[in-house]
Amino acid sequence: MERVTFVAPVNLAVIKYWGKRNEELILPINDSLSATLDTEHLCAKTTVMISPDFEQDKIWLNGCEESIENARLQNCLREVRKRSQLPDKQENWKVHICSENNFPTSAGLASSAAGYACLTVALAKLFNVQGDISAIARCGSGSACRSIYGGFVRWYMGDNIDGSDSISKEVFDTNHWPDMRILILVVNDTKKKVSSSEGMKRCYHTSPFLKYRAENTVPLRIEQMQEAIQDRNFEKFAELTMKDSNEMHAACAAAYPPCFYMNDTSHRIIELVHAYNTAHGEIKAAYTFDAGPNATLFVLEKDVCELYAVINNYFLFVDDRQTKDQIGKSLPGASASSELLKKINIEKQPLGKLKYVIHTRVGTGPKQVLDSENHLLDNQGFPKKLY
Ligand code: DP6
Repeated sequence: MERVTFVAPVNLAVIKYWGKRNEELILPINDSLSATLDTEHLCAKTTVMISPDFEQDKIWLNGCEESIENARLQNCLREVRKRSQLPDKQENWKVHICSENNFPTSAGLASSAAGYACLTVALAKLFNVQGDISAIARCGSGSACRSIYGGFVRWYMGDNIDGSDSISKEVFDTNHWPDMRILILVVNDTKKKVSSSEGMKRCYHTSPFLKYRAENTVPLRIEQMQEAIQDRNFEKFAELTMKDSNEMHAACAAAYPPCFYMNDTSHRIIELVHAYNTAHGEIKAAYTFDAGPNATLFVLEKDVCELYAVINNYFLFVDDRQTKDQIGKSLPGASASSELLKKINIEKQPLGKLKYVIHTRVGTGPKQVLDSENHLLDNQGFPKKLY
């Protein structure tokens, strides 16, 4: 039988999805907007195969077999089979799924968005599903519906009770803002954190700011954000991005008990970005934080080397080699003037607070991998590699 393999991107929200009005269908309380990141640097890869000979549905994640009975996974599979246009009831054949990420899980980067988007596009191709598939990815993880497209993507919360209009759309394509760059600062962290789903639920039920945010701030801010991206107005884009991240984390702090995702290093990064912008007298960098301490910085290509040098000056990385050689595009000749560093004038952080930096850019949506060498399942439908 045919094997289908896709790679799918990670996305980073600049207007956050935080809070569900329906837990089971994964329906959000506000629209959100994200940038899709280049699959060359960060991606999930998934191979799927169906056969009348398979006895049961099976899934392997990062080289280990996992339970297929996961409710969200089951929801995606059910939707795909329901919408399948395969002949002769082939949609009832059992499926084997094998998936992995091309980035270290130790990085603590949210991988569920790329993972569920990849699963959805691969299954949709294999089962011949037509029409919008972002709502299927949404059933796996809310933010996954935005990884179905490239460029800048908006997830419309929708009104329908069954979630049929809670889908995502590409609002600006990959090439719209070619000089936009992204630095992901991977922060050293050992603390066990509250999952996004759990945090959202807690905020929804106990944080008085969340409802206010969904009803009053986001509807206006998301329109302003779309306009800023349309006009490639970096200062406006950056200001809105930082404000939205701060607001989400303020809503988290107002939950009871509070959820704290950022740690001391995250706060130092915020301080540094503001000091950097103040030293320049204009906004040249923006931070945003998801449900963890890692920072994502947005910066234009002309400033990326300088910003990188500034970060390096205040946070000495544990493994600088990784930044330059292994992940993302290298940043040769990064330097910042002593005059600038003098103006920034904040306390240097001890070695080891940052693990490494991933340098990437806005990228395209999921891509099919046609070369059979690159399938994760062999032609019998079993993983080529197990760990
Ligand atoms: C902070 O999509 O991981 O990254 O729908 O419960 O799976 P579930 O949550 P998830 O939440 C992501 C939240 C966020 C903000 C965002 O990506 O918009």
